[in-house]
Order: sequence, then C-alpha cells, then structure tokens
Amino acid sequence: MSASRTIVAGVGSYLPARIVTNADMAKIVDTSDDWIVERTGIRQRHIAAEGECTSDLAIAAGERALANAGMAADDIDMVIVATATPDETFPATAVTVQSRLGITHGGAFDLQAVCSGFVYGFGVADNLIRGGLARNILLIGAETFSRILDWEDRTTCVLFGDGAGAVVLKGEDGKAAEQRGIIGTRLRSDGSKHDLLYVDGGPSKTQTVGKLRMQGKEVFRYAVTNLSEIVKEVLEENGLESSDVDWIVPHQANRRILDATARKLAIDPDKVVVTVQDHGNTSAASVPLALDQAVSDGRIKPGDLVLLEAMGGGFTWGASLVRW
Ligand code: UT7
Repeated sequence: MSASRTIVAGVGSYLPARIVTNADMAKIVDTSDDWIVERTGIRQRHIAAEGECTSDLAIAAGERALANAGMAADDIDMVIVATATPDETFPATAVTVQSRLGITHGGAFDLQAVCSGFVYGFGVADNLIRGGLARNILLIGAETFSRILDWEDRTTCVLFGDGAGAVVLKGEDGKAAEQRGIIGTRLRSDGSKHDLLYVDGGPSKTQTVGKLRMQGKEVFRYAVTNLSEIVKEVLEENGLESSDVDWIVPHQANRRILDATARKLAIDPDKVVVTVQDHGNTSAASVPLALDQAVSDGRIKPGDLVLLEAMGGGFTWGASLVRW
C-alpha cells in the first residue's frame, strides 16, 4: 500500500572504538596536526578493529535507529545499505544486516554512490515508500574506508575514517503526513570525472580490492560548484529559498568545503552541522552521523526544514529536503 509521505521515524549512528588522532597520523606519514586541521578541519578519525566489518558498524547504527524510532527489527520491510566498502563483493552487505537483525521478510540491497550514497538512498527509499513497494525502510550509510586507503599516501590517508549512520523511514498518510517528511530529492552524476576520485581495483578489472586515488584540489572545486547548484535546484523545485532552511546536514569531507558552499548559498554558517573534526570523511556514513548528532543534541527540532547534501566519487551528488 502506498503512503502519501515518507517521514524520518528514527536516527542512530555508530563509530568504532579506536580513535586515531592527527598526531598518530604524523607517526605514519609526513604530515602534521596543523596541516590537517588548517586544510580540512579534521582532528581525529575512528578506525574499525581487525575483523570488524562494514556490516558490524551498520548493524550497530541500525539498532540505535530502530530503538530511537520505537520500532522492532521485524517492522522493517526493506533494508538499504549505502556503501562503497561492502563486506564482500557479493552478497550485498544489506542482506547480512537484514538477517543478523532477525528480519525474515521484505528485501535488502546495497546502494553504491560512494559519498553520496546516503542521499541517493534517501531519494530511492522515499520513492519506494510512496510507490508502495515498502512501508518501513531501514536506510544505513556504513563504511570501512580504512580498508581501501593507501596508508603511504599522505594526500588521502589523513582524510578518511570508518563509521555508520542510519535512519528508519516510514510511510504516513493523512493530515499529519502533510506537515512533515521528505519534500524532495535531486540526484546527479557525471562519469567523465572518474579519474579525479576512484579506487584502482575491482573484481572485473583487476580481481583486487584496490586503493582510493584522489586529485583533491580538483574534487574540492567541483564539490563547491556542484553542491551549491543542486541545493539551489532542489529548493527552487519545491518553492523554497535558502533563507527557509533551518539546518544543512552536509557530507563531511572538508570544513572548507562546508564553509565555501554555505557562503555561495548565502546560508548562515551557524546553520551548518559540522562533525568532520570528530570522524573525518566517512563517505556514505557522514550525513547520517551528522544528522544523528544534531537530532540527539536537540538542534534539529520538529518542524525544522533540514537540507541533506553530498558529493563524491563518480562523480555523484545529491540534495534532499525534509521537514522534521
Ligand atoms: O568525499 C569525497 C569528496 N572529497 C573531497 O571533498 C576532498 C576534496 N579536497 C580536499 O579536501 C582538499 O583538496 C585536500 C584536503 C585533499 C587538500 O587540500 P589543498 O588545500 O587542496 O592542498 P593541496 O592538495 O593543494 O596541497 C598543498 C600542499 C602540497 O604541497 P606543495 O606541492 O604545495 O609543496 C601537498 O603535497 O600540501 C601538501 N600535502 C600535505 N602536507 C602535509 C598534501 N597532503 C598533506 C598532508 N600533510 N597530509
């Protein structure tokens, strides 16, 4: 049965216990706390323990989102895991999560849009719910990027970390549903920018997992342009203006990208949720990690207009508007 609106019923997140500070990174590669903080805003990252997989992180975040929603695992009829670091090439990490949560009905699949995976998942899940294919979706962004980093490349290894964040998305009908929920999502991609951000391995091409390669300066430039454009588009499409936004919850890649994008959109920097200092770039996990932080510390309140946005490998990018 289709629903008229998709609401966010619960949020949760999980970071692995082990913290690696910038000072720790300076023992591994030729870098410094000053350089990392000044160029990125990152102070530390969490790294998964040996044997701790993306599914473990995803399950911990998913359980917290379910508890926050006051729902049981069995209420979920679709599990989506946005990840670029699945446990295995197949089956999807989402089916492992589904099974280990004890869900024996509905479907599960992984979604691969790298750092934009959670925002892509938001749009897909909203349409699955409003189209009637699912009623209650557990959408998780989970990554173990530490496993695909070149730990000898200081231009990339200092930037990323591991983590997971999750939301329970629920179909609602009736008058209450008109007041809240997902308003709209816009998704874009451009495969011609492959060489600026990619992993140099894969089952079909090299039969290896590969390592992350990035031309950071170029990615930075495109990120600010693409994100500010797509945010303007999603606002315009829904008859809203940047001054209507209460909170921006962006992909946490670099503090300077967040500041520059807010400036371009003429949005007060105090309205930008920033968590990059605590966990670095966790790819698909970073938007729900930031969302969970701002919901649990009471910044995001019912009725607030929240804007999610992300850009990453592909390139892929997207933005979504939700009335809390
Ligand atoms: O999630 C997907 C999206 N990813 C991103 O959004 C990442 C986007 N890019 C960035 O965040 C930034 O471009 C970086 C943080 C990657 C780099 O910052 P930058 O201000 O663009 O620095 P740069 O690449 O121009 O490098 C400046 C200097 C270079 O030295 P020279 O050539 O000027 O002598 C680098 O070799 O900084 C050097 N450098 C470092 N120094 C100390 C690069 N990495 C490091 C490091 N520690 N870790």
